[in-house]
Amino acid sequence: MATLNEVPGQAAASPRRSWPGPKGHWLFGCLRAIRSDPRNFYRAAARTYGDYVRIPTLPGVDVFLLVDPAAVEHVLVKNPKNYRKPAFLTGPVRQVVGNGLFISEGDFWLRQRRLAQPAFLRGAITRFAAPMTAAADRLIRDWEAAPDGRIVDVVPEMMRLVLQIAGATLCGADVGAEADTIGAGQRDISAFVSHKMNNMLTAPLWFPTRRNRAFQRSKALLDGLVLRLIESRRRSGAPTKDLLGMLLAARDEESGTGMSDKQLKDEVLTLLFAGHDTTSAALSWAWRLLAKHPEIQEALHDEAFALLAGRTPTAEDLPRLPLATAVFEETLRLYPPAPALARQALGPDEINGYPVPAKAIVMPSQWVTHRHPAYWDEPDEFRPERFLPGGGTNRPKFAYFPFGGGPRVCIGNTFALLEGALVLAALAQRFQLSPADDQEVEIDVTFVLRPKGAVNLVVRKRS
Ligand code: HEM
Repeated sequence: MATLNEVPGQAAASPRRSWPGPKGHWLFGCLRAIRSDPRNFYRAAARTYGDYVRIPTLPGVDVFLLVDPAAVEHVLVKNPKNYRKPAFLTGPVRQVVGNGLFISEGDFWLRQRRLAQPAFLRGAITRFAAPMTAAADRLIRDWEAAPDGRIVDVVPEMMRLVLQIAGATLCGADVGAEADTIGAGQRDISAFVSHKMNNMLTAPLWFPTRRNRAFQRSKALLDGLVLRLIESRRRSGAPTKDLLGMLLAARDEESGTGMSDKQLKDEVLTLLFAGHDTTSAALSWAWRLLAKHPEIQEALHDEAFALLAGRTPTAEDLPRLPLATAVFEETLRLYPPAPALARQALGPDEINGYPVPAKAIVMPSQWVTHRHPAYWDEPDEFRPERFLPGGGTNRPKFAYFPFGGGPRVCIGNTFALLEGALVLAALAQRFQLSPADDQEVEIDVTFVLRPKGAVNLVVRKRS
């Protein structure tokens, strides 16, 4: 078994090793076990075989699980040019977002990333705090108008909230009335993508299965919505400060050209998909964790109320709301919305002495590394103080990577952290949430790691 960080940062100088791992079924490898319970399978594999595990799937197709933070850093930061997102991921996603930022590669990706990046810099992002808290205020008014002590499923509530924020920040649109239709459309599309990614044999898109039809209906709805927004923006010509306005104004440094409507649509849909499901899943988990840890929820309330005394938080308040950010970060550790990344090696490589053949699929896993006992005391416990100043400075950088890393790091990471902390502080100030029952919440890991089914909590107003 490999030990952790044997030669930190010097992968190429390590002795050559062979990958340990389970043998699996002669035909299906470990696919059945992975399908039935992926999160336990991968954690058990790391416990049994160590931080570098070869997992057979179909004949000749192995997945190389990377748990060691140094190995994650190697793939994402030190040698990213040798790795690309694999076709089993990009194929289905491309059907939804065309050649958007999440899946494009090479020079085209670089150009698009450069065009979009300024809109996501810290300074630019703080302007989105107001639409974020406006949406939170709307939710607060709804909850205050409802009977005290009622049971709320926070999953759809957080989804609606995050969609409203996405509509306002992406295109200055009030999606209030349409939020549920867009949310349902997104669910159809996610179900389609997960099905394609998790099954080798699926019906072609032209074949009228229920899933295909729901996908095509929802895709047409979202495409139409976004294209209409772009057209009306181009017609009005007025500059706006939302993300669409910034993308419309973006010009390539060399050619001076902007994006076509089709490319803009792909990028807007990418931002909607990459940003919405992930953040709303994280917020739902955060409320579940806070409800189960009333002492932490009280501390969060006290922090918010002491500073804000009932007013709406702003981006400038965040440095003085460290627990709000820490709660969100700790939630992303325990329930990383992206539980694993996938990369395909373009050419042969070697990581800490382990040979990586060309075309191999490597898989850094947030789910496994974020709960690794070598880096986290009592790794399954919810302890936001890990992310408060002094709470764990000697951890390797890639022991925690909810947003990935290197050139393909999540472009929306600052946006998501701002949104998460503001929403938590705004709501914790006004309400107390407690579990409505003793039911364990199951995890849905088909694509984004989100709660499976409802997260029912009792919502009480604070006087
Ligand atoms: C808690 C919330 C979020 C999490 C956990 C998350 C996670 C991630 C991860 C892990 C990646 C890297 C994927 C890879 O390397 O294969 C990624 C990429 C990306 N994310 Fe996020 N994300 C979140 C929120 C957002 C938001 C709010 C936006 C936009 C507003 C966004 C837009 C993107 C885009 C466009 C990419 C692709 C970037 C590129 O390849 O250049 N994400 N995200």
